[in-house]
Amino acid sequence: MDVGIAESAADAASTAADLIQRAVRAKPEVVLGLATGSSPVGIYDELARRLSDGGISLAAASAFMLDEYVGLPPDHPQAYRSVIEDKFTRKVDIDPAHVHGPDGTADDVEAACADYEQAIRAAGGIDVQILGIGTDGHIAFNEPSSSLASRTRIKTLTRQTRIDNSRFFDGDLDAVPSHCLTQGIGTILEARQILLIAAGSAKAEAIRQTVEGPVSARWPATALQLHPAVTVLLDPAAASRL
Ligand code: GLP
Repeated sequence: MDVGIAESAADAASTAADLIQRAVRAKPEVVLGLATGSSPVGIYDELARRLSDGGISLAAASAFMLDEYVGLPPDHPQAYRSVIEDKFTRKVDIDPAHVHGPDGTADDVEAACADYEQAIRAAGGIDVQILGIGTDGHIAFNEPSSSLASRTRIKTLTRQTRIDNSRFFDGDLDAVPSHCLTQGIGTILEARQILLIAAGSAKAEAIRQTVEGPVSARWPATALQLHPAVTVLLDPAAASRL
């Protein structure tokens, strides 16, 4: 695990964008894994800026999202599909038909999850997976106690995660869906390269566990210690307990 402590969250995002830019230059048809949440927004802004400067093109790239709420239509402003379009894919030249996410409106959830795993395999797997981290150490929506070998499946969101995410639903906890579809930890670990970005003191304990703690389902991100190519980029506050 390579751990980089940047001077600021913006510097961490810029370093992450450098890494992604190198991956895109090496393989224009790169397959990116996209996270929602606030952590990666700086990376997405930086990539969009570099695209408008002509430094990068995602025209040949494709992307797979990590997770999606169950029951929100894709055009709901808080559906992760809408969020990723707003924060990233609409600002770059990636083909919208090549941006994939789990189908949170499917009647047959198990089939939707199996289809998603198959789609990732058919694309040749994920080259660079961007990750944020929850305050409880969750990655994607793999909450504490998730199997470290888990695959894409339906999960119940913890009350804490629903409280954390209610800020995106005008503070209305009842409006936050109770379930989600998420890539499993086993799915995430198959990405060739993983880039985790975190900022702020609320993430400091989760980062300490991820980097220095024992591998345990208690802190799902500790599974990243098992992967050979993980880069963790932090601001000083997120790194403060290392
Ligand atoms: C959400 C997402 C995760 C994200 C995490 C942290 O629950 N499912 O993918 O990493 O929360 O979010 P933020 O980056 O906003 O702190």
